[in-house]
Amino acid sequence: MATSRAWTFSHRGSPTDVLSLTSSHPIPTFPPSLNPSEQQEWILIKVSFAALNPGAIFQMALIPTFLRNKTCIPEMDLSGTVHDVWHPHATIESNTTSTRFRKGDKIIAMIPASHALPTGSGALTEYVALPARFAVHKPPQASFADAAGCLLTGMTAHQQVVEAGLRPGHRVLVNAASGGIGTMAVQMARHAVGPEGFVVGICSARNVQLVESLGADVAIDYTQHTNNKNNSLPAHLAQTFHTNPFDAIIDTLGHQSLYANSPAYLAPSGTYSSVGIKPPDFSIPAFLRAVWQMKLNEWWPVSRWLGGVGRLWRGVSMMEPTLEHRERIAEMLRHGQIRVVRDSVWRFEDVKEAYAKLGGLHARGKILVRVDETVGDDEC
Ligand SMILES: NC(=O)c1ccc[n+]([C@@H]2O[C@H](COP(=O)([O-])OP(=O)(O)OC[C@H]3O[C@@H](n4cnc5c(N)ncnc54)[C@H](OP(=O)(O)O)[C@@H]3O)[C@@H](O)[C@H]2O)c1
Repeated sequence: MATSRAWTFSHRGSPTDVLSLTSSHPIPTFPPSLNPSEQQEWILIKVSFAALNPGAIFQMALIPTFLRNKTCIPEMDLSGTVHDVWHPHATIESNTTSTRFRKGDKIIAMIPASHALPTGSGALTEYVALPARFAVHKPPQASFADAAGCLLTGMTAHQQVVEAGLRPGHRVLVNAASGGIGTMAVQMARHAVGPEGFVVGICSARNVQLVESLGADVAIDYTQHTNNKNNSLPAHLAQTFHTNPFDAIIDTLGHQSLYANSPAYLAPSGTYSSVGIKPPDFSIPAFLRAVWQMKLNEWWPVSRWLGGVGRLWRGVSMMEPTLEHRERIAEMLRHGQIRVVRDSVWRFEDVKEAYAKLGGLHARGKILVRVDETVGDDEC
């Protein structure tokens, strides 16, 4: 049996505690062991780069073992080349049916939780077999490294822009504008509101220049504000924008206080579009409280007479994105409408250190891992 290297985990805990690097992970073979009768194309990918996402830390720390495969490989975003193609009705060698992919194609893929949890499949491995609908062709202009970092963040940011109902001329506030999703959201928001619109980003001082270079008219340094009622960030936003409020707020981190105070700086018809609610840590009680708050925001009446916040809250979910969602982001990358900001690129052996950086919640764009230096033609 041919084997390859992969990062795996079986127990629940932090990446440092539960991840281990194995060189004896079996290279998947076709036909796929999962429902081979399914009428769909599969590809075996030789992975070039993987991108890290906070969601993988949640997966390792929180998901009980009975809800997932016993042993899992983390991460959902990757780039690479097609090593093999399989289709139930095709002998690929004889080209009897047309498949979306051919051996050697350069691709990017995003593995949804609905596939990753039951199969244990993930991006931090040298070879992964996936239904072809999870992958799209890599735009030739984009490097393998950048392309690996665009799908989950790009699709989430795009969904937020759609939920926010942005139109040309709108005024929009983007929270956590320097993170993986935030850097995408600023670029997409700028595109949606046009030059006549107004984009404000919230980030720390070291990222102000970056956020403005991505299309924000102004970036606000949140570290200048404290929990003190008069000097808080919501108090500053209320003071600065109450006479000319935002048409939408895109929160790429999920700060409840920003939502709870939003009537002071978000127009009555405006939407607060959020990735969820940020739990204070990666523990189960904190996570359950965050989910409860999210459901309250979603289901409780908006009306202040009924105890609501007074502004519409919409949460986005990237549990089951479609092929069209993936194609849209690849197109944006192809046309230069978005670019991927690289926080850092890590060696495959240094994945635990890369997760320590991600877990600090101060990534500047994407944290990337070079899985296999022989795949792709990137310079780094
Ligand atoms: N709903 C969904 O489907 C979905 C999908 C993907 C991700 N998510 C969630 O979305 C969140 C963000 O993901 P991501 O990949 O963008 O994370 P990320 O790349 O780690 O970005 C985190 C960003 O947050 C900023 N930040 C930290 N503290 C802040 C504060 N107090 N105020 C404003 N900004 C602050 C940091 O900027 P500074 O360094 O400047 O502080 C950093 O740029 C995660 O919780 C993730 O789990 C949800």
